[in-house]
Amino acid sequence: MSATQRIRQEDSGTGPRLRGGPSASAAMPELSYTEDVARETAEAYEKVRHVIPAIEWPAYAPYVKAINDLKRQRNAVILAHNYMTPEIFHGVADIVGDSLQLAKEAARSEADVIVQCGVHFMAETSKILNPDKTILMPDMDAGCSLAQSITGADVRALREKHPGVPIVTYVNTSAEVKAECDICCTSSNAVEVVESLGAPRVLLIPDQYLAANVAQRTDVEILTWEGACIVHQRFTGAEMREYREAVPGVKIVAHPECPTDVTAEADYTGSTAGMITWLKQNRPEKALLVTECSMADNIAAEAPGVDFVRPCNLCPYMKMITLPKILASLVHMRDEVIVDPAIAARARIAVERMINLKS
Ligand code: 13P
Ligand code: SF4
Repeated sequence: MSATQRIRQEDSGTGPRLRGGPSASAAMPELSYTEDVARETAEAYEKVRHVIPAIEWPAYAPYVKAINDLKRQRNAVILAHNYMTPEIFHGVADIVGDSLQLAKEAARSEADVIVQCGVHFMAETSKILNPDKTILMPDMDAGCSLAQSITGADVRALREKHPGVPIVTYVNTSAEVKAECDICCTSSNAVEVVESLGAPRVLLIPDQYLAANVAQRTDVEILTWEGACIVHQRFTGAEMREYREAVPGVKIVAHPECPTDVTAEADYTGSTAGMITWLKQNRPEKALLVTECSMADNIAAEAPGVDFVRPCNLCPYMKMITLPKILASLVHMRDEVIVDPAIAARARIAVERMINLKS
């Protein structure tokens, strides 16, 4: 489906709306591609022209301008994960980053409204850290296979089964799960968090592959859960070796949610932000990003000269977030993320304990 079709087919939605006050609905802006729109979005287009043909930009640009205008009116910021599509990442995001960076920025934010362009657990993390702010999620169905793999009751059962063993939860979990755990971690600090506990044995849940990758980098004994990311678990070590043969000199850059036979073949393994930093510092001629597709599209503009070889695994949840849905969220101030205050208070302890770790 072309970008133009994708934009036109999307309804701007009918989800639950907030009532009254400063957060009441605004009028839906005019969405024509005028000279003003072209001029005001020209800088953003320069960053995405390698992936969005000029003929398709008029379908995106009116949304980009309308969203940026409305953000100012609402005192809103857009936090966007590195897996967002390029028109979101370069066109409307105020802050981009990996899960840890977005959690830290959410904690620092002075905006009244945060629009979370990512998946639901990220929006919940923002709400946990900002109980008084309005957190909007442009599509409430944007979940995560890891977050869906475990419940609060499962964590309580693990505690009973392993008394005295600290429980570290990957940030890709619900607020309810975080509330049952001792500390949170992300892919960029998992080893550091595990070692900070000073325990000989730690439960690191729910991603079995992140746990296996961490276990290879620490002397702490790691117990885990059977969760997996549907995007990263599909990569295989054999596939990596085939790429190495087919593309001589290629550098393999992998996410630690990949199985260990994949990370064993990698030149670098790290969070999405870690991957970007490594690429900018090392500037390989050819790089294979073993992660979600949009990453390569997004960083191509910042890493000129790197030829990206992309095995394209899309995260269906991340791809639910689109410009029309972001605009509808801001126009109607709807789809607000709510976390039970008692659960949020307990989950906050685990998230803040991670954020406050000295690195
Ligand atoms: P990062 O924290 O590395 O951005 O990962 C989040 C995620 O969902 C990866 O699949
Ligand atoms: Fe969850 Fe995997 Fe999608 Fe990340 S890429 S949000 S871990 S399903």
